[in-house]
Amino acid sequence: MNAGKYVLDVGEIDLHRMTLLGDIYKPYTTLFIEHNGLRGGMHVADVGCGPGNMSLWFADQVGTSGSVTAIDSSSEQLNILKSRLQSKNITHVLPKKLDVYELSKHFNQQFDVVYCRFFLIHLQEPVKAIYQLKKILKPNGRLIIAELDNYTWYSYPENSYLQRDIDLLCQLAKRRGIDLSIGKKLYAHFKALQLNDININIAQPVLMEKEHREYMIFKIQTWGKKYLEHQLINQNEFEELLNNFKALALNEEYLLLGARMFQIAGTN
Ligand SMILES: C[S@@+](CC[C@H](N)C(=O)[O-])C[C@H]1O[C@@H](n2cnc3c(N)ncnc32)[C@H](O)[C@@H]1O
Repeated sequence: MNAGKYVLDVGEIDLHRMTLLGDIYKPYTTLFIEHNGLRGGMHVADVGCGPGNMSLWFADQVGTSGSVTAIDSSSEQLNILKSRLQSKNITHVLPKKLDVYELSKHFNQQFDVVYCRFFLIHLQEPVKAIYQLKKILKPNGRLIIAELDNYTWYSYPENSYLQRDIDLLCQLAKRRGIDLSIGKKLYAHFKALQLNDININIAQPVLMEKEHREYMIFKIQTWGKKYLEHQLINQNEFEELLNNFKALALNEEYLLLGARMFQIAGTN
């Protein structure tokens, strides 16, 4: 990767968390894409595909007359996708190991839909990346992006540990030069890139199911490890955060909201 290492874990270790997060947001993401022109036979690029949760969904939608190019800079993520494809006997998903900043060196204007989700927040140059995404779209192709505003996880009654986590996320983002609330800025970026027919949806899921509430535990385990690595907290504070996130997830008296997700689509 040419601009900073991906901050979270990759591979099997993060698969469950990633799948759970995808599951929480899936009803909103799939509906939005369906309403933004995805059709059978199309050629889709899923950029920053991770273990390929969305690539597999796209594969179903476009069918074998179409294709899904699943792009990620991590071989570990792509290896998980490859074994999932093998076990399902899917041949129209093409995994490609590439850095987003290099996309236009490898692809021409060839995709009907270029998609990314939960991806730009990890990059140090997200605007440069969006520019690359646009460059590989066909004329009239549709760019579709879904990103969270990670500072909007919420509980009522309010909880000081959740607030502490948000403060720590802010500090980590500053240290790493990443933007964990890029979702709300996407409209401005789409306008600057002169994309047309812009469509936006904002969703904030309520975490009702036990499994979805338990995402909070995986979230603090994953990001908490990074707070430790960057010495933003010590081991005792990590344990305290973890225990209180467990209590928050399991206590059904708390209304828990996932972070606000901004979805945007625009035509090239
Ligand atoms: C949170 S995961 C994305 C998950 C996936 N989009 C989904 O919706 O399930 C972020 C992915 O971005 C990849 N990544 C990070 N920096 C990248 C870069 N510069 N170019 C391509 N992929 C990158 C990571 O390897 C990781 O798999």
